Amino acid sequence: MAASCLSEDELKEQRFFEQRVRAVTHVFDHKPLAFTHTYGCQQNVADGERLNGMLEEMGFEFTDSPDNADLVLYNTCAVRENAENRVFGNVGALKHIKRRNPDMIIAVCGCMVQQEHIAARMKQRFPYVDLIFGTHVLHKFPEMLYGIYEKGGRLVCIPDSDGVIAEDLPVRRESRFKASVPIMYGCNNFCTYCIVPKVRGRERSREQADIVREVKGLVESGYKEILLLGQNVNSYGKDKGTSFPALLAELDALDGEFMISFMTSHPKDCSHELIDIIADSRHISHHLHLPVQSGSDKILKLMNRHYDTSRYLDLAEYAKRRIPDIQLTTDIIVGFPGETYEDFTATLELIRKVKFDSAYTFIYSRREGTKAAEMDDPVSDEEKGKWFRELLDLQGSLGEQAYTKYVGRTLRVLCEGRGRTDETLLTGRSRQNIIVDFAGSDELLGSFVDVKITMALPWALTGEIVK
Ligand code: SAH
Ligand code: SF4
Ligand code: F3S
Repeated sequence: MAASCLSEDELKEQRFFEQRVRAVTHVFDHKPLAFTHTYGCQQNVADGERLNGMLEEMGFEFTDSPDNADLVLYNTCAVRENAENRVFGNVGALKHIKRRNPDMIIAVCGCMVQQEHIAARMKQRFPYVDLIFGTHVLHKFPEMLYGIYEKGGRLVCIPDSDGVIAEDLPVRRESRFKASVPIMYGCNNFCTYCIVPKVRGRERSREQADIVREVKGLVESGYKEILLLGQNVNSYGKDKGTSFPALLAELDALDGEFMISFMTSHPKDCSHELIDIIADSRHISHHLHLPVQSGSDKILKLMNRHYDTSRYLDLAEYAKRRIPDIQLTTDIIVGFPGETYEDFTATLELIRKVKFDSAYTFIYSRREGTKAAEMDDPVSDEEKGKWFRELLDLQGSLGEQAYTKYVGRTLRVLCEGRGRTDETLLTGRSRQNIIVDFAGSDELLGSFVDVKITMALPWALTGEIVK
């Protein structure tokens, strides 16, 4: 579908509603407080930053607990059942708070409630939820919130994709150094297990010039890592007469010291050209997240992934040859309908061959409305659990040694903050997107430093700054 951008008038209208909400909350005897939480992938996190941006424009400040909030907003994910169960649990827990504070507004948005049956269940089970809205009307949040304040009652708004792209929404970024930049929305791939195409609509790419302008502005205002986002960045620009490698090449030509990373790459249209551009780049991260999902050609076909293991192995081998320090990571699903133990062992075989630095592993979760939900699924949960643990054990032992090759080397690291487990250390990310901890002072935050690696853990490196 050819995507159009929202008109300036439509955007202005929402800025107008932001001011109306501000006027409503102005009469409170305190600054309005919002508690917001986003589940799911980086795209959803990017949406969450925009929702927070709009809330900020509406005069809200933020709190980290729903207890004293005037507004609670859950931005949800539908990718697996346990993601949804968590939201049901957390919304359920708001009942008592709402009883104490009946003026609190509760809103639930995002992928999960874009599914009609879930929105209906949410509405029925939680009568105290005021506002439910889907993924395609995120930009109308101010208007919907104003409607609730003005008229009271409940509002459910989950239209299908209208294919518009909302440029220039207010955004409240979580980090001072890292900025995510969506380059496209939606997905056309219809992997048979996956709910994303249903809840996010068809692919829409942003204009290349808009993206370049945004990235340039971010770099000029001091951001050091730019994360380009799309469900399948490799199909960026197909509807715009351009391509992902072309976008990357233009961004790589920008001046300044900064890093560009991206996710996610679908192997079906990941090309040698893309790998060459990364290899020859100045700014692009040496990290390729290339979800393989399964090592069995039969299962890949049933998943509708449009590649086989030999293509995948070729890509992995080429990436390692052209970019020797590449960090290669993947996603794997265990227990897809019809998968046999033999298919599963083919996945083990593949991870032995590729030697991923790390793998995100999931047990198949049946999603209503997908093709796989209709397939025969005879293997028991218990059996799938056993396979899953076998996979974890193997990847654990392969991943254990993955980072030892960096010991003794000096890596350039973007210094991002204090260590999560050890506050006395600074933590940052290398060009390979590996966490690196080292001693240093706060004035290094947001700058690049050279760190000599002294120790490797399976998930991080430790080192010392090279003077
Ligand atoms: N667009 C990305 C992935 C989005 S979802 C891509 O195609 O690579 C992130 C991961 O969740 C997927 O790679 C897949 O491994 C997993 N996933 C998606 N749907 C799932 C399901 N129904 N059950 C289990 N895992 C699933
Ligand atoms: Fe889901 Fe496949 Fe699209 Fe990824 S590419 S979002 S797994 S349908
Ligand atoms: Fe989840 Fe929606 Fe992302 S389903 S993984 S939040 S696109």
